[in-house]
This record gives sequence, structure tokens and C-alpha cells, in this order.
Amino acid sequence: MITLEYVNLRSRAKINVSLDVLGKRDDGYHELEMIMQTISLEDKIFIKKIPTDEIIIKSNLKWLPVDERNLAYKAARLIKDKYNISEGIYINMEKRIPVSAGLAGGSSNCATVLVGLNKLFKLGLSSKDLQKLALPLGSDIPYCVMRGTALAKGVGEILTPITPSFPFFYVVLVKPPISLQTPFIFKNLNVADIKKHPDTNAILSCIKNNDTTNLCLNMHNVLEDVAINIYPKISLIKEELLLNGALHSMMSGSGPTVFGLFEDKKVAKLAVKNLRQKFKYRDIFFSYIFNPQNNLKKKN
Ligand code: C5P
Repeated sequence: MITLEYVNLRSRAKINVSLDVLGKRDDGYHELEMIMQTISLEDKIFIKKIPTDEIIIKSNLKWLPVDERNLAYKAARLIKDKYNISEGIYINMEKRIPVSAGLAGGSSNCATVLVGLNKLFKLGLSSKDLQKLALPLGSDIPYCVMRGTALAKGVGEILTPITPSFPFFYVVLVKPPISLQTPFIFKNLNVADIKKHPDTNAILSCIKNNDTTNLCLNMHNVLEDVAINIYPKISLIKEELLLNGALHSMMSGSGPTVFGLFEDKKVAKLAVKNLRQKFKYRDIFFSYIFNPQNNLKKKN
């Protein structure tokens, strides 16, 4: 029997096509209702077994912590300890997803390492098992194990896959050169002050009926106003995406990345060019909606 010595995996980003906060819980966390969607923007993760009993993480971002502060490290530690693995683990991460951006880059890397180690060490864990293991490491990580279009409730751990999945769009991502930490945004949110909540059920029926016009009218993220108060430029980026032909633009997660949805590839590519010229940010990307089960067409 051939034993697997290494795995090469893609770790994809997510956007929130809807994010509602229903209340604050006694444990300080917030009760959420979100619709999550995987996009094509990805990091590449290589994992191999090594004979020495250690966890080594390398990445192309020289400033990124590669010790226990890194979620990929935490995932490797968890698996190694829980399953008494005596071999060491070497992980190389080629990062493209911006960090602290509202795109779940770190959470996705963590999920990918869990999936990768399950394969490498033949642990036989199901997706559900991995989602359960993932939750203590971060609220978005169970979703990152699942991927595709999903309704996430609770703190993000009560997941329902949505079929048919979110309709295909080209996605232009604009991340201004600031970091917004999730705890900071939640700390600045007063649930009673939320002016507009998204109608999650209406959004779900638009997805079901492929009604893209009403879908775009209904999509909303309640954390956007909080982030705009702190960093008003988010508003300007949203407007600029619309001026460049986006059907809808909104902030993802706790920000600061803003995304625009486009039906036409040429229009989306031109928007990337124009926005790069206007804002001169490093992190402006062309991407597209990615659903593992039906993404057979190459969209690049
Ligand atoms: O679970 P995670 O580590 O991703 O959460 C980061 C922080 O975001 C939490 O410490 C909390 O401040 C905030 N958060 C929250 N409610 C959630 C998820 C996250 O208040 N449902």
C-alpha cells in the first residue's frame, strides 16, 4: 500500500453575502445569521510529514506569525495531540488572501490544515467530525471546512448547506490598507442601534429562484455601518464599485474588504484596472463565486 507523504491543497476565501446580528449572548459572543459563500481567491497549502516531533510553518509573508498564534499551527497542534501523532508536520503556506480582511483567510487555512491532516494521517474523520473539531479554534472555521453556499447561525457553527447554490458572479475585491480586527468591530456594535437588518429568508428565496435583481437589492451586512463609522472610505469604495458596473457592492464579514458582484467578465476586469488606478491599493483582486460541486467551468 502506498502511504501518502504529502498533500497539496487550495485554501479558499469566503465572502458574506448577508450578515445579520440578532443579539448578544451571555458569553459575550453575538448570535448571528449569515449566508456564506466561497470564492476562487485562494492560498496554496503544502503539508508533509517529517521525522522530527515538531510543527514547522513557513509562509511567503515574512511578518506572519508561524507559532501558536497562527490558526494553521493551532490546527496541527490539535490533531497531533488528539490523535497521538509522533511524527512532525511541515506546512508551507503560499498566501494570497489578505490577512485580517473579512475574507476568512486564516480560518480557511486552519480548515485546510484539518482536512489535509485527516488525509495525510488517514484519520477517517467525516466533514461533520472536522467541523466539530474546528469550532473551538474560531467561529468561521466549521464553515470553511464545509465550503460552498451555506446558512450559518449561532456563532456560525449551525450550518445548513444551500442548494441550489448562490448564482455565479465575477467578484471584484477591494481591501483598503487597514486591518479591522473582528473583536474590535463587535465591541463597537450596539445591537439596538442597528438601523436595517437583512431579510435572510427573502435572500434565500432569491437564491433558490435565481432572482439576481432582488438578491442584490436584499443583500446586507449589519457590520458595515460600524466599519464605515471607523473608516469612512469603505463607503467610497462601495460607490466606486457601483460606478464601475457592479450589480451590488458591500463589505464582507467584519471588513474592511468590499466586494462587487459582476455579471460580465470584461466589465469586472476593467473595474479591477480602474480601481487599482484610483485607489493604488495593493490588494485589489479579480475573483469569482466558487461552489465545489458545480465549478466545472474555468473562469479565469
Ligand atoms: O470565534 P472567533 O475567534 O473568530 O471570534 C473572534 C471574536 O469576534 C470574538 O472574540 C468576539 O469578540 C467576536 N465574535 C462575536 N460573535 C460571534 C463571533 C465572533 O462577538 N458570533
